[in-house]
Amino acid sequence: MLKINGLTKRYGTNTALDGFTFTFDTGVYGLLGANGAGKSTLLNLITDNIKRTSGEILYNGTDILKLGASYRSKVGYTPQLQGMYEDFSARAFLHYIGSLKGMKHKECRRQTEFFLEKVGLLHAAHKRLGSFSGGMRQRELLAAAMLGEPEIMILDEPTVGLDPEERIKLRNYISDISRDRTVLLATHIVGDIETIARDVILMKHGKIVVSGAPSALTEEVSAKTGRPAGLEDVYLYYSTPEAMKNG
Ligand SMILES: Nc1ncnc2c1ncn2[C@@H]1O[C@H](COP(=O)(O)OP(=O)(O)OP(=O)(O)O)[C@@H](O)[C@H]1O
Ligand SMILES: [Mg+2]
Repeated sequence: MLKINGLTKRYGTNTALDGFTFTFDTGVYGLLGANGAGKSTLLNLITDNIKRTSGEILYNGTDILKLGASYRSKVGYTPQLQGMYEDFSARAFLHYIGSLKGMKHKECRRQTEFFLEKVGLLHAAHKRLGSFSGGMRQRELLAAAMLGEPEIMILDEPTVGLDPEERIKLRNYISDISRDRTVLLATHIVGDIETIARDVILMKHGKIVVSGAPSALTEEVSAKTGRPAGLEDVYLYYSTPEAMKNG
């Protein structure tokens, strides 16, 4: 369990994350918000890639700064922007990442085959990453993040550039892996999380605007507007209230 208390990150006078407080359990948590809302900042703090200004991030009750490497080994991460090793094969790349994570050779080989199959890349395991489509790359990155079977998965815009079919495959896979772990998924695409998120967190200017189960949020907005509402309407309602209220 991951408990965040008053987490704040400032860049000079710009407050990128402003007193963020939330508790994450197992399941998919969808982070929505416009460009600059603070989604990546939050994820970078949770993965311990950047220094916080103030606040706490507790993993099972202990701050992650005290846990250090023992915490980081429990976290899988696919960053928003990531270069790839174009000349590696899909399989070789996973072997390489597994060794960076300090996995035992045999276990790394076993999990590589397992996750290649899981993300539907076993047939392309020998192919160069340089020849992969955007969706194949994303699925490869997801497999890489899953090596070592981390308890917490942090996915920053994992579906950017995917076609609808690839998007659905990835969504189903993310839903599968969330059964026994915490998944934080930042996206601009409401459809990515509408059906799989247990909770949606809508962010603006580094703060939570609203959070809750998709069904609760849509019912609330529907009751307020007197019209049927989907998650997209929820986003719109809280982002530009006037647009919805005036019809
Ligand atoms: N390294 C940095 N230095 C200075 N300011 C930064 C830095 N990284 C982020 N910011 C600022 O922090 C705020 C939050 O940015 P962040 O990247 O977290 O937003 P985001 O919600 O992930 O946006 P996007 O949807 O575009 O990915 C923005 O105002 C951004 O300009
Ligand atoms: Mg971002």
